[in-house]
Amino acid sequence: MDLRNQSAVVTGGASGMGAVTASALAARGARVAVLDINQTAAQDKADEFGGVGIACDVADAESAASAVERVVAEIGPPRVVVNCAGIALAGRIIGRDGPHDLGQYQKVINVNLIGTFNVLRLTAATMSELDLIGDSGGRGVIINTASVAAYDGQIGQAAYSSSKGGVVALTLPAARELARFGIRVMTIAPGLIKTPMLSGLPKEVQESLADQVPFPPRLGEPEEYASLVEHIIDNEMLNGEVIRLDGAIRMQPK
Ligand SMILES: NC(=O)c1ccc[n+]([C@@H]2O[C@H](COP(=O)([O-])OP(=O)(O)OC[C@H]3O[C@@H](n4cnc5c(N)ncnc54)[C@H](O)[C@@H]3O)[C@@H](O)[C@H]2O)c1
Repeated sequence: MDLRNQSAVVTGGASGMGAVTASALAARGARVAVLDINQTAAQDKADEFGGVGIACDVADAESAASAVERVVAEIGPPRVVVNCAGIALAGRIIGRDGPHDLGQYQKVINVNLIGTFNVLRLTAATMSELDLIGDSGGRGVIINTASVAAYDGQIGQAAYSSSKGGVVALTLPAARELARFGIRVMTIAPGLIKTPMLSGLPKEVQESLADQVPFPPRLGEPEEYASLVEHIIDNEMLNGEVIRLDGAIRMQPK
């Protein structure tokens, strides 16, 4: 897709994979809106490439609706939406202090799963009003971010894996339903990617995680995620599928 002057939205675009993806789309000429709960970081990122930074809690109906309204007003309905906003909270079902905190579980589901669906539903509605473009006459593409934890969740990842499993399961029905509007829906399931979410871990833990990746035996780079996003945008046959981006890692129970 020729992205020049097309509108693109990246949630969680202030940090990590979202931030690198926002810059990559802007470098291809897209007008990019960075939506993030961290308003200052969203604005700073958008300022790097002349984009729009918008404070948005993806899990909140009103916050996301007003953010998408701003996107439409300032850069037009998006042709590309990349859902990167997410949080990782670990906790055992039976922890040292008793059963898993239900509020924590709900929070992870709210941000990672409901937040993804919230942005998908709102942006799909505005995307459906765009003109048809491209060889196959489509309108655009929505790319979600799951995790390999959707498939091989570790001990302590009950909440996170549940939320990402929901994103995986959302992909096909959303692609099927939005097909009549010429909107594709894809999901990327990253393995271990070097972002602030992972770099908070002690260096030894990072090294031991990297050693578990069959090949290449290292953490992934956020640029490798952004490059897959670009390929998905450009390859119209990719639809309704989840792609693991993980160097063949299959995470162990712990
Ligand atoms: N880093 C990894 O190894 C890895 C692996 C698998 C999946 N993922 C997933 O990839 C996505 C991006 O992760 P990352 O590693 O770049 O993380 P990150 O922490 O660097 O970036 C996440 C961004 O999401 C924003 N955010 C958090 N809650 C939000 C909310 N309610 N509304 C709007 N924005 C919110 C944060 O402010 C942050 O800018 C996440 O969904 C994460 O679960 C990451």
